[in-house]
Amino acid sequence: MNLINKQTQELSLLSKDDIDNLAAHFDESKPYDEKNGMKKVHPEMGRSLVESIVNLDGYQWIGGNFYEHVHPYFPHVDKHKMQEGNVMVMVIPIRYTGRMPSLVIFDQEYYEGPYTWMMDWKRKEGQVLKFDTNKMGHENYPALSNITKKTGKPIEDHLAKELDMYPKEMLHSLSGKSHSFRPGNVIMFDGARIHATTKLDGPKLGLTLRYVKK
Ligand SMILES: [Fe+2]
Repeated sequence: MNLINKQTQELSLLSKDDIDNLAAHFDESKPYDEKNGMKKVHPEMGRSLVESIVNLDGYQWIGGNFYEHVHPYFPHVDKHKMQEGNVMVMVIPIRYTGRMPSLVIFDQEYYEGPYTWMMDWKRKEGQVLKFDTNKMGHENYPALSNITKKTGKPIEDHLAKELDMYPKEMLHSLSGKSHSFRPGNVIMFDGARIHATTKLDGPKLGLTLRYVKK
């Protein structure tokens, strides 16, 4: 198993039993957080299961999330600017409702994160923003930030269509690839890459593990 940090990979690594065990563990666990349409449980069981399948020698665990959510994730980066070295993010699809969603991984990177571009989201009265990394205001979409590899062009139509809950102008200068949220697959990418989820028909359950290359 050779994980190349800078290159996005999608590999079929988990069996149906693994997926069922992960889902059962999630459903049986007591969530530590249940806000904003998101339910989270501790990722430890998922971490040990994945590490028993994938050889992660040379990678050091730095964190993860085991989550079910109903709202698509806005474009964001996971890597913390203080984190030295290359961060490798593994996204492990487990369950979804209705049409199979996708994870769009953009070619563009951002090194001043973590950061979430809130796009045209408007705060409702009394609503509190949960994370101070959720930015609105002057850098509310990626092209306004100091991102790498800006194309200087409108996003390609097939990606715009998958992300049509956002105004197309707010996806300007982005390029990338859409990866199906297919249970059994593991999607691996560099933590500085901007990524976002496509529209959801209902709850989606996934596990994210983050490692730094030793
Ligand atoms: Fe992420």
